[in-house]
Amino acid sequence: MRKNLRILAVALSFLTIIGFEACSPAKGDHPGSEYMPDMGHSIAYEANVITEYYHNTWDAESKKHSGKTVRELSLHNKPVKGTIPRGYAGVVNANNKDRAAKMKFLRGESSTNAMAIPLNGKVPYYIPNTEEGRTYAATAPELRNNPFPITEKGLKEGKELYEIYCGICHGNKGDGNGYLVADENKNVKYLSGPTDYLTDELIDAENGRYYHTIMYGKGVMGSYKDKLSYKERWNVIHYIRALQAKKRELAYSQYENTLNSWAVPAVDTDLAIEDAIAADKSGLVKGFNNVLKDTTDSYKSTLLKLNNVFFDTGKATLKPESKLELNVIAALLQQNESAKIKIDGHTDSTGEPTANQALSEARANAVKNYLLGKGIAVSRLQAEGFGQTQPHNGNMSSNLTEEGKALNRRTEMSVISK
Ligand code: HEC
Repeated sequence: MRKNLRILAVALSFLTIIGFEACSPAKGDHPGSEYMPDMGHSIAYEANVITEYYHNTWDAESKKHSGKTVRELSLHNKPVKGTIPRGYAGVVNANNKDRAAKMKFLRGESSTNAMAIPLNGKVPYYIPNTEEGRTYAATAPELRNNPFPITEKGLKEGKELYEIYCGICHGNKGDGNGYLVADENKNVKYLSGPTDYLTDELIDAENGRYYHTIMYGKGVMGSYKDKLSYKERWNVIHYIRALQAKKRELAYSQYENTLNSWAVPAVDTDLAIEDAIAADKSGLVKGFNNVLKDTTDSYKSTLLKLNNVFFDTGKATLKPESKLELNVIAALLQQNESAKIKIDGHTDSTGEPTANQALSEARANAVKNYLLGKGIAVSRLQAEGFGQTQPHNGNMSSNLTEEGKALNRRTEMSVISK
């Protein structure tokens, strides 16, 4: 009995010691430790990336000692001078459905990743600079899709860089006729002609051929891997694609890509919906939220005008740039799962009333169909056309001026139940 008690006492004091020692916060030179789940934490100087410290819960302690949260301490430090970052493949493909969530994770913005894993843009490239490497790269699946969605900003950056680094040889139009080789340059010394990007061969060539060439150059063309960051290389490729789309009279923009299947227009990604909500040109988000707050029944008659939904003239085909605003509506409906809406189409009085009636119905339905395509249930969407019968101010004479007509041709939305 006594012996048992002694064992118990020893065991208890042992456990107490473990208890004290096992979990201790970081302090001074002591990095702190936790028995579970991570045993110990270093708050070491981490260049570029942090992956280990998800479970660290010492933000308060850390703040007390260093004035910064653990997350702030571990954020993207500059590499130590003179060192070369090894890099990592931390980029999520734009074609990936969960991209928005993954990007949030990588930026350290998600709730499941309290510590940031910032993108450092240093993505390793393992394909060698050999003939086999070049052949492999040309159709390599990992290089086929541009990992960044097509955005106006990216195209603008791509253009700037292209015109600095590539245009001098390949021409600002991409036709292979840059200043260094152009006839008008009397001092032309360049013997081998730069590739014309506007040929079918180059337009149909996959992105890997471009990426590999940027990394290593080809023939007399040098490497640009040290001049362009990972993202910049892909933006230059985006811009070359935009030049090629122009040549074929196709679209390659943040709204639409009819040139190829290797890049996603930003408007088709979840991220673009977030951006669209942030940009919200028509004040739709505010209007919608006001309607939701309205406790009287009059909310049903509040009309929200869709200022950025455009159709081809005389048709019910949505112009690609309408997607931005329609995505905002889709996102609002996703956030407010019980809300049901009605879309109203109106025309001006140009042409036959019956044709206008049909056109307004078709346009309201085009909006409805777009939202259906975004996964909104059909039971939540109604569409109605009014033709020319309801000018914006209730006054038919507004159709006498061009401005009046423009106001009368419109798409509106109301929340019919919430
Ligand atoms: C100094 C002139 C020069 C500059 C600057 C230049 N290139 Fe080139 N590039 C060439 C020449 C010449 C070729 C043809 C090489 C060959 O086939 O031997 C070429 C070929 C290419 C090809 C085709 C490779 C293939 O697989 O056939 C691509 C893609 C390319 N360049 C992209 C670029 C990009 C992108 C830039 C800018 C970052 C750039 N080049 C800058 C001269 C240049």
